[in-house]
Amino acid sequence: MIGPRSVRLTGWGMYAPERVLSNADLEKLVDTSDEWIRSRTGIRERRMAAPHETTATMAAVAGKRAVAVAGLQPDDIDLILVATLTPDYWMPATAALVKEAIGNSRAAAFDVMAACSGFVYAYATADAYVRSGMYRHVLVAGSELLTRFLDFSDRNTCILFGDGAGAVVVSASDQEGGGAAGFELTTDPDGAYMVWLPSGGSRSPPSAETISRGEHYVRMEGKETYRYATKTLATSALTAIKRAGWDPDEVDLYIPHQANMRIIEAVAKGLNLPMDKMFVNLDRYGNTSAASVGIALAEAVDGGRVQVGDKVVLVAFGAGFTSGAVAIEWTADPILGRRADSVEPVASVRAPVNWDSVDPIPPRLRELLEADAGPHVPLEDVVPGEPPQGDGHRADAKREVPA
Ligand code: UT7
Repeated sequence: MIGPRSVRLTGWGMYAPERVLSNADLEKLVDTSDEWIRSRTGIRERRMAAPHETTATMAAVAGKRAVAVAGLQPDDIDLILVATLTPDYWMPATAALVKEAIGNSRAAAFDVMAACSGFVYAYATADAYVRSGMYRHVLVAGSELLTRFLDFSDRNTCILFGDGAGAVVVSASDQEGGGAAGFELTTDPDGAYMVWLPSGGSRSPPSAETISRGEHYVRMEGKETYRYATKTLATSALTAIKRAGWDPDEVDLYIPHQANMRIIEAVAKGLNLPMDKMFVNLDRYGNTSAASVGIALAEAVDGGRVQVGDKVVLVAFGAGFTSGAVAIEWTADPILGRRADSVEPVASVRAPVNWDSVDPIPPRLRELLEADAGPHVPLEDVVPGEPPQGDGHRADAKREVPA
């Protein structure tokens, strides 16, 4: 196999569910306040998927947008990687469902599980496949539906997370230079139980008892995770930058995992960088785990923060503990992001035969949702070739695109 001249990021896209879950909404569920959440995390609101949406449907919309921006047809994609810790099912891989939903008939497809670092890990995996010459175009989607895995009586966790998806296309290029110039991926098992979900795996299969103990929800040691995050984001970014042969202040934009504003500020301070070099959108989405860097990247490019020739660093940390960074020389014309506007926020994911899911919404959220949500679309109504019901409104129609 002969590798390409370069490996470039050619497409990007995102999807955010329409329903906003504000800090005021959470005040109704747990003993918290908008003031506490904003001052301790920077989060004002996050998105919450509708009952008919899943990790696969969100990944498919973001993925279709990224494929359109890359100027490709779905069947041009050779490999689909979905980074997620909230798959539709334990099996099959969510990527298999996404393959059909984007209208691809020929790609290999599998999931990448590295928690909130998943997008960066999947990006590195895509780059390696393309660099080796094995594939020409890889779709990477980070997609999370965290609101279904949160205990909405636990104020330590439920205020932090939200739903959404971000995607990129990584492609072989016949031109020299550009694309990923340096990577760093690390895993530190000391943090294995700092952010975790105890039950559902082989160590503790799901049962009435595990559910009564609330072990199907995310648990977190916030302070330890915070400490690790501030350290590892800085060291991971520095290592990737060094491998690219750059200096930290040469980088035009850092796109960090959107976990906590104070973490991002600490990293900027640690690297001696002004905050305007850090892209931040966690105020509107909270922590969307493996989707966060992909969503932030799409918003940064479409918002005019990235130009051809810019040096951009994606950097993330997450459960495991995992951490990763990629230093990218930007090559795609940001105006191409407008191609995503033609992709409606609709995805048809194959439904199981002779099976129906129970109500997927955590009971404490159900009341909030029913108060002002759109029409409920049962899972069994979402079948291949038939768009789901609903108003077809594009959730992020108002996001800014460059002139
Ligand atoms: O992608 C990886 C996912 N995880 C993370 O990124 C988490 C990283 N950690 C953090 O972001 C922060 O540690 C948190 C935002 C989770 C917590 O902030 P903190 O400044 O570390 O607060 P704390 O845990 O030290 O808690 C301070 C106080 C405590 O009360 P007492 O003991 O001082 O009376 C908590 O019980 O704040 C209380 N508290 C809250 N109060 C109102 C904790 N959560 C809340 C809340 N609302 N939601």
